[in-house]
Amino acid sequence: MTHPLTAITRHLGSIAYGGDYNPEQWPKEVWREDVRLMQQAGVNLVTVGVFSWSRLQPQPGVFDWSLLDEVLDLLHDHGISVDLATPTAAPPPWFTRLHPDARPVTVSGNRLAHGSRQVFCPSNPAYAEAADAIVTELATRYADHPAVVLLHVHNEFGNHNALCYCDISAAAFRTWLRGRYISLDALNDAWGTDFWGQRYGDWQEIDPPRDTTAFRNPGQDLDYRRFSSDALLARYRAEAALLRRIAPGIPLTTNHLGTLEKKVDAHAFAAECDLVSLDHYLPAADPDGHIDLALNADLARGMAAGRPWLLMEHSTSAVNWQPINVAKRPGEMRRNSLAHLARGADGIMFFQWRQSRAGAEKWHSAMLPHAGTNSRVWDEVCKLGADLTILGEVTGTRVEADVALIFDWHSWWALELEARPSVQMRYLDMVRDWYEALWTLNITCDVVAPGSDLTRYKAVLAPNLYLLSEEHADALTRYVSGGGHLAVGCFSGVVDAHDRVHLGGYPGVLREVLGLHIDEYLPLRDGDTIQLSDGSTAALWAERVEPRGCTPILHFADTPDGGPACGGPVVTRHAFGEGTSWYVATRPSVTTLRDLVRHISLEAGLRAAAEVPEGIEAVRRSGPDASYLFLVNHTDDSVKVPVEGVDLLDATGYGSTTEIPAGGVAVIREPQPDQQR
Ligand code: GLA
Repeated sequence: MTHPLTAITRHLGSIAYGGDYNPEQWPKEVWREDVRLMQQAGVNLVTVGVFSWSRLQPQPGVFDWSLLDEVLDLLHDHGISVDLATPTAAPPPWFTRLHPDARPVTVSGNRLAHGSRQVFCPSNPAYAEAADAIVTELATRYADHPAVVLLHVHNEFGNHNALCYCDISAAAFRTWLRGRYISLDALNDAWGTDFWGQRYGDWQEIDPPRDTTAFRNPGQDLDYRRFSSDALLARYRAEAALLRRIAPGIPLTTNHLGTLEKKVDAHAFAAECDLVSLDHYLPAADPDGHIDLALNADLARGMAAGRPWLLMEHSTSAVNWQPINVAKRPGEMRRNSLAHLARGADGIMFFQWRQSRAGAEKWHSAMLPHAGTNSRVWDEVCKLGADLTILGEVTGTRVEADVALIFDWHSWWALELEARPSVQMRYLDMVRDWYEALWTLNITCDVVAPGSDLTRYKAVLAPNLYLLSEEHADALTRYVSGGGHLAVGCFSGVVDAHDRVHLGGYPGVLREVLGLHIDEYLPLRDGDTIQLSDGSTAALWAERVEPRGCTPILHFADTPDGGPACGGPVVTRHAFGEGTSWYVATRPSVTTLRDLVRHISLEAGLRAAAEVPEGIEAVRRSGPDASYLFLVNHTDDSVKVPVEGVDLLDATGYGSTTEIPAGGVAVIREPQPDQQR
C-alpha cells in the first residue's frame, strides 16, 4: 500500500515544502502577496489554522468560517495544498472565562492564568467537550475541500501543559490507577508504599505527586508522568476518532518535539498517526547542533518504522525561546534541511511562513522575514525550494540502517526522578555520547523504542536503560543469543517499570546477557575525572564490575587516579549464544566511545554510508531504481570526497572524486546501489 506521505508527495509532485501559515495575523491584502511569494519560493504545502480557534469560534456556539473559506480557496487556486490543523492547542479567552477551572495547576498548586497557549488541563471535561466541538465543525466543513491533503491534530501535545496537578487531574489519575492496578494491594506493592509509611487504604487517599515535604514516592511520580502523557494521548485519540469518522480519506499526523520534549512519550503518539512528523530546533548553544538534528531525524524515522516522515517545523534562522538566539549562518538552513531529507524526511517545513509583526514570536525567524524579499533568508528560502524541486526524485526512497539505538521516555523519566545516585547523570547526555560516536563514523542508525523488533539489526546500542522491564530485557537477551551484537551503557537494567530495583546484584535483568555482576555504583564528585588503562579519561561514574563470563577489554587505571573502582573492568565483552554483548561501566570520552563503537561495528559488520573525510556527514537513501548518497560538508573548506556518481546539487566531479564546497551539500545519484553497498 502506498504510504500516506508518499501519496501526498505524489499529489504535490515533489518533496513537501512550506510552513505554518497564519493568515489571521495579517490583513487580507497581504494574503494575495503571500500566495504569490509562496509560488515564487516553490512552496507546495502549508499548515493552516494551528492557533485560530478564537477566530473560528469567536463566541460559544458561534462559528465563523469566512477566514478559512477564503484562505483555503486562495491557496487551492494557487496550487498550494493544505495541512489543516485542529486549533485545540489555543483555547480562546471566552473558554477560560467560562471555565476558569480548566486552567492547569502547577506542582506547587498555582493555577495558571490565561494569556498564552495550551492553557488547559489535559483531563478537563469542559475542555474535551469544547475541543471535540470545534474539531467536529472544522472537519465537517473542510473534509471535502480539495486543498486539504493532511490533518494535523493539535500542536505539540504537552509542550506547555503536560503536567497538571489540579483536583480534576487527581480524580482522573485515580481512575487511571484503578485501570492499571485493579487492586490497592497491587498499587501499594508497585509503589513500595511501606517505605515511609505511605500505604494506601482507599483510592481517594491518592493524590498527584504535588510539592511535599521531602522526596516523593518514585513509583507515584513515574506513574504520574505516564498518566499525564496518556491523558494527552486520550485527547489525540478523541480528535483522531472524530477526524477519521468525518474525513476518512485524509491522513492524520501530530507534530512532536523529539528529544526536546521530555514530558510526553512521543512513541505512543507516533504509533497512532498515519504519518510521523517532527519539529526540530537547533540548540544554538551547541556548536555541533547538527548532531542533535541527526539524532532527532533518526528518531523520527525510527518512529515511522523506516517509512518516510515529515519535518513539520524547523527554523530558517534564529528562534526566540532559547537564552541566546543565534542566527543561522548563510547556508546553514539549507544544510539542516538537506540533512533531514537525507535521513528520510519527505517534507521540509518551517515555523512559520511570514515572520510575525506582533505577539510572542515576532523575534522568531520565518521563511519571509520582517525585511521582506530583500533579505538573505528569503534568497535562501527560494534557493532551497529550487533544490527540493531538483531532488524530488528521492521521495519514497528509504534510509537503511543496520544498527539501532534504543531511546525510551520511560527510562528517561525514571533516571531523572529525585534521589538518584547522581543528578549529573542525565539521560540525553548518555544518548548523545553514543549517538555522536555513530555519527562521527557515518554509521546510520535507527533510533527506536525498547520492545521494537530488533531482528533485522546487526547491532543494537543502548546508551542507558536504567528502567528495563523483564520483558524488554528478555527480548535483548534473545537478540544476542540469536546472533546480535548489543552494547549497553552504564547504570542500565537497574529497575523495573515501577522503579523497583531488580535484586541479586546489578545490572539486574542484564546480568546474564552481559556476563557480569556489579555490587556497587560509584558516582564521581562534581568535576572529578578518572583514568582508564588506555590512558583516556572518563567522568561522572564508575562501577565495581565482577566478570562472570565476560572478558574485560579495558580497565579503570590501576592507580589512585583510576578512581573508586581502580584496576577493575570498565569495558567488557561477552560471547553469549550466537552473539556478543558489550558493557561500559563509566561515561568515557567521546573519542574512547567512538573507538569502541568502531570496534563493535567491525565485529558486527557495520559499514559507514561512505568513507569520507572528517566533517562530512554521509547518509544514503535507496530506492528500487537508484540510491542517493547525501554528503553534507560541515567544514569551512571545500572537501574532496572519493565517491563517484552524478551530483544533483553543488559538487563538481573529477573522475572518481567529488568536491563539495565549504558548507555545501552533494546528493550523488548512484545508479547501481546494490553493487555499491
Ligand atoms: C513550536 C511550535 C510553534 C512555534 C515554534 C517556535 O515548535 O509548534 O508554534 O512556537 O515552536 O520555535
